[in-house]
Amino acid sequence: MFKKTIGILGGGQLGKMTALAAQNWDVPLRFLDVSKNFPAGKVCPFFQEGNFKNYDDVYAFGQDCDIITIEIESVNTEALHQLEKEGKTIHPSPRILDTIKDKGKQKLFYKEKNLPTSNFVLADGKSDILNRIAKGDLSLPFVQKAREGGYDGKGVSVIKNQRDLDSKLMDTPSVIEDLVEIEKELGVIVVRNENGETAVYSTVEMVFSEEANLVEYLLSPARIKAEHEAAAQALAIKTIESFDVCGLLAVEMFLTPQGEILINEVAPRPHNSGHHSIDACMTSQYAQLIRALYNMPLGSTKMTAPAIMLNLLGEPSHQGPVYYKGLEECTALEGVKVHIYGKEITKPFRKMGHVTVIDDDKESLFEKARFVKNNLKVITQNSSK
Ligand SMILES: Nc1ncnc2c1ncn2[C@@H]1O[C@H](COP(=O)(O)OP(=O)(O)O)[C@@H](O)[C@H]1O
Ligand SMILES: [Mg+2]
Repeated sequence: MFKKTIGILGGGQLGKMTALAAQNWDVPLRFLDVSKNFPAGKVCPFFQEGNFKNYDDVYAFGQDCDIITIEIESVNTEALHQLEKEGKTIHPSPRILDTIKDKGKQKLFYKEKNLPTSNFVLADGKSDILNRIAKGDLSLPFVQKAREGGYDGKGVSVIKNQRDLDSKLMDTPSVIEDLVEIEKELGVIVVRNENGETAVYSTVEMVFSEEANLVEYLLSPARIKAEHEAAAQALAIKTIESFDVCGLLAVEMFLTPQGEILINEVAPRPHNSGHHSIDACMTSQYAQLIRALYNMPLGSTKMTAPAIMLNLLGEPSHQGPVYYKGLEECTALEGVKVHIYGKEITKPFRKMGHVTVIDDDKESLFEKARFVKNNLKVITQNSSK
């Protein structure tokens, strides 16, 4: 049925979940990443071992594919440009990837396209930033972001005072953004096929834990006014159209106390804030990616029940062969769906899996999520007895 082979750069959990969705349609799929033992290698036999940051590896891998996509941004785009010239279909296009993987270029893009985002300036490194402060061109507080290579908060420094300036300033080409007053952090997944048709998911709200300033749950639909929901979805569609992306785009946004919605950053691939779509939506983000790549009609994004997604992170003091403590108690509950990525070694805070809880009753939804949070622990095997 599907003759065109899809190649995915990156073989982690996002690749694995894409492969599982692709298997429903017997889609020819291949992966490129360092080891067949990575999550996607466990479910897809066509796994090329190599480095997606390396020109030769990406170029050679591309020869065996018709359509190439990514599950991570930090790939070698020079090879993708060359493959595109030679007639391969690349989504998202390497031109877009070059813009998005550099947070500086990404911010300039929003400015050029009149997309709402926080004010910013670009800076070279530590001495440039300190000079500008000394001259009065830049004032505290601000958020410093490394232009390249950051993820999961690594590469972001909030600089509020002199002490932060002394200890937290990074010496790297940076974006310096206004510190936004955030009412809620939101994520919107949107998808677009080659015909330009779009489909958008209900907004996801990051729910922060009361003790630590860490995201504890991802809740969808978000607890926001209908007008903000509509505005966030419309902004996600406008953003994917502006980038001219075919495939998925995850749009991270801030809702301010004044009701303004600002784009924080985007990712042109499956995203953590779309995991719940496997269990709680008519069509998962992974199935949508396959549909978009083959230029098929997009699936319904309708939710089947309100959902909370929790990442299963390695416990802080555990490193070694993994054990999932409390799995049985949690899977016994109605509407608790556990996903284990298949990484053999756990490390502190490593993403080892996730759980989606679905429940029509909001109170019991949160109750079950709390139960999972407190009882399902990612630890090492030798500490499990
Ligand atoms: N301009 C800003 N004002 C306030 N908080 C911010 C700002 N930019 C980022 N943050 C906070 O830092 C987090 C990480 O920043 P982000 O750019 O999303 O980096 P990452 O690529 O690591 O996800 C955001 O989720 C948000 O909580
Ligand atoms: Mg982010």
